[in-house]
Amino acid sequence: MTDPDIRKGLAGVVVDTTAISKVNPETNSLLYRGYPVQELAATQPFEAVAYLLWNGELPDAAQLASFRETERAHRALADNVKAAIDLIPLDAHPMDEVRTAVSVIGASDTAAGSSVLDTASPEENLTRSIRLFAALPAIVAYGQRRRRGQELIAPRDDLDYSANFLWMTFGEEPDAVVVDAFNRSMILYAEHSFNASTFTARVITSTLSDLYSAVVGAVGALKGPLHGGANEAVLHIFDEIGEASNVVSWLDAALAEKRKIMGFGHRVYKSGDSRVPTMKAALDTLVDHYDRPDVAALYDALESEFVARKGIYPNLDYPSGPAYNLIGFDTLTFTPLFVAARVTGWTAHVIEQAGANALIRPLSAYVGPEERHVQG
Ligand code: ACO
Repeated sequence: MTDPDIRKGLAGVVVDTTAISKVNPETNSLLYRGYPVQELAATQPFEAVAYLLWNGELPDAAQLASFRETERAHRALADNVKAAIDLIPLDAHPMDEVRTAVSVIGASDTAAGSSVLDTASPEENLTRSIRLFAALPAIVAYGQRRRRGQELIAPRDDLDYSANFLWMTFGEEPDAVVVDAFNRSMILYAEHSFNASTFTARVITSTLSDLYSAVVGAVGALKGPLHGGANEAVLHIFDEIGEASNVVSWLDAALAEKRKIMGFGHRVYKSGDSRVPTMKAALDTLVDHYDRPDVAALYDALESEFVARKGIYPNLDYPSGPAYNLIGFDTLTFTPLFVAARVTGWTAHVIEQAGANALIRPLSAYVGPEERHVQG
């Protein structure tokens, strides 16, 4: 028998079509429904990009107003979700909180019914998606606050998605520069084709399971440091290095130990992540706003030294980690922020997968013992 063509990690394997986003590593570009992501980040509120991912077109003024109204109506943290979060130990990772909260929201959606067969129409799945999108900021913000011994803050109806997210986290009216940088980060994190967490969501959907289960699974996949967990790992590295002048000696030791340098490298982009220049520009505005040239110096020093030595470029987590740190988010909150953004892409993929479903079930090449029999 000839060896099967095994593609470890499904590297290079095209498993399906998608109309949601196009990643082109040759031209270093990322398109959401045809629009370059950097153009969307420079011109759109995150709500409009969420609408685009789900509906295929940017909203006009009336559509955006109506979408915002729905989003604002579902921002508050439900009592049972808060109660479930409060049961989780404070030293658990906040991604465990987010995963549990999404699960409780799903279990509370009585329209979903008690059958394992989920009969939701695309319209019902869109409604569920918008509600999760609207609910996640309160879940993430409350997670950070309770770890700091602070009370839940109620949402503000007069603020857009990003400003309200910052309000619920910090209890202060956010500065426009900060809102803009945060909004850009949400847009950049929203969607990225068949990455590990999105593919997880599609695999779960392919069994005819429900949208909430798909999102819960995706949260679990995103938690890992080779995927979403890398943004918090970047901050740990920054903390270890301390200042720009330590970069060379730190990198000598890290590479001697064969450590992976978090925030660098990408399965698809080998000559630079298309999202990095936009997020780096947003980080630069925050560096100026908070007057922290030391952060920019460390960022630049590690990037130039690592790229010179290994030819491996930063991914989106590299600029977003320090940006979230400057805004005031705890390092543990970074990956939950990624969830709040990526829930848009995940659920767009759930709807797309459900609309043209085939059970995802690959094969494996068995390498265990030959057939044998129980003795005696
Ligand atoms: N630090 C050190 N070496 C690296 C790094 C890194 N960050 N990334 C890749 N390499 C090296 C590998 O050690 C390997 O070297 P070898 O051939 O000598 O063994 C080579 O480059 C190829 O790396 P792979 O891990 O095989 O490449 P793959 O495409 O599977 O990896 C991945 C992509 C997992 C993202 C990897 O670059 C990595 O682990 N990066 C750090 C984690 C990270 O930042 N993840 C965020 C991803 S983007 C996102 O989720 C927004």
